Amino acid sequence: MSGSTPRASKGRIFSGIKPSGNLHLGNYLGAIRNWVSMQRDYDSMFCMVDLHAITVFQDPKELTRNTREVAAGMMASGIDPAACILFVQSHVPAHAELAWVFNCVARLGWLNRMTQFKDKAGKNREASSSGLYVYPNLMAADILVYKATHVPVGEDQKQHVELARDIAAKFNNDYGVNLFPLPEPVIQGPATRVMSLRDGSKKMSKSEMTSDAALIYMTDTADDIAQKIRKATTDPNPLPETVEGLTGRLEAENLVNIMAALSDRTPEQVLQEVAGWQFSQFKSRLTEIAVATLGPITAEMNRLMADPAEIDRALKVGADKARALAAPILKEAYAAVGFLPAI
Ligand code: TYM
Repeated sequence: MSGSTPRASKGRIFSGIKPSGNLHLGNYLGAIRNWVSMQRDYDSMFCMVDLHAITVFQDPKELTRNTREVAAGMMASGIDPAACILFVQSHVPAHAELAWVFNCVARLGWLNRMTQFKDKAGKNREASSSGLYVYPNLMAADILVYKATHVPVGEDQKQHVELARDIAAKFNNDYGVNLFPLPEPVIQGPATRVMSLRDGSKKMSKSEMTSDAALIYMTDTADDIAQKIRKATTDPNPLPETVEGLTGRLEAENLVNIMAALSDRTPEQVLQEVAGWQFSQFKSRLTEIAVATLGPITAEMNRLMADPAEIDRALKVGADKARALAAPILKEAYAAVGFLPAI
């Protein structure tokens, strides 16, 4: 199906990924896979959010490479640049421009409640960049500069999307306009929060992991995947018959959810197959499924990474479209604020 095929749009979606490290299974199952299934039902915009990435220092060469790699990962997973708008955040200055206005709308008290800032800043809050603190205001600008109505994300981004709603409502109220919609978070599937393979109480996340063995990367080979799954933490009991039987067994629950998401089943359906199995048998099956699903994506990512010009061409088309959509909305916002129109 091509991007020009007429379709009834259910609204506009915007979502993004920070190019701050390698794509991992959490990004794929929690976000990208859902985007692929939604991209033709909505006007869809997907973004490599490089302005967000630098809230924590990034090696410049790595940032450039990772930005292309995230684009390659999305395209290899089925995001079709002809059916949606795929682009890089820094190519569209309107994000940063609207973010400044939102810095003046959002209240410090709101930002102080953001759990991700607390987690990322950790004990050394004073040494964090000011960008990390106002990060959710930029995220609100990403969404609202296109008047996006739906934001498909993993569980960890819910609080930020709710803040975007608060910012939209306060802007509309302060300036007596009905400019911004209140965007809805869309959090769906059995893997909205993929956990570390080493510790089922910690989110799978590049920045929070001490060891690469805790994450499955989209660039991992079949051998890497097999080894990581083999070494994944489990408990001594066989797999239960029901989802209730997973209560308190965080690692088992995580692996069942991963298997469910990778094979398009519910956790209940997975347990019908694996109830009573030992983990060794379960892990072999999970490896088979993971390699079958991720292998072709990794191969396509590698092909695209060998031809960066193809990626860059797609991103240029996306940036041109995004700039054209953002410009009039930023103008409306500036007018609402009372900025003297530029001539
Ligand atoms: P980021 O780059 O941390 O993650 C990208 C997407 O992957 C999801 N995700 C996960 N889902 C399930 N389990 C996990 N372990 C896991 N780890 C990551 C995230 O929920 C996210 O959907 N602030 C955002 C990027 C952003 C954005 C936006 C998103 C910037 N502007 C506007 C939506 C709308 C972030 O850091 O995602």
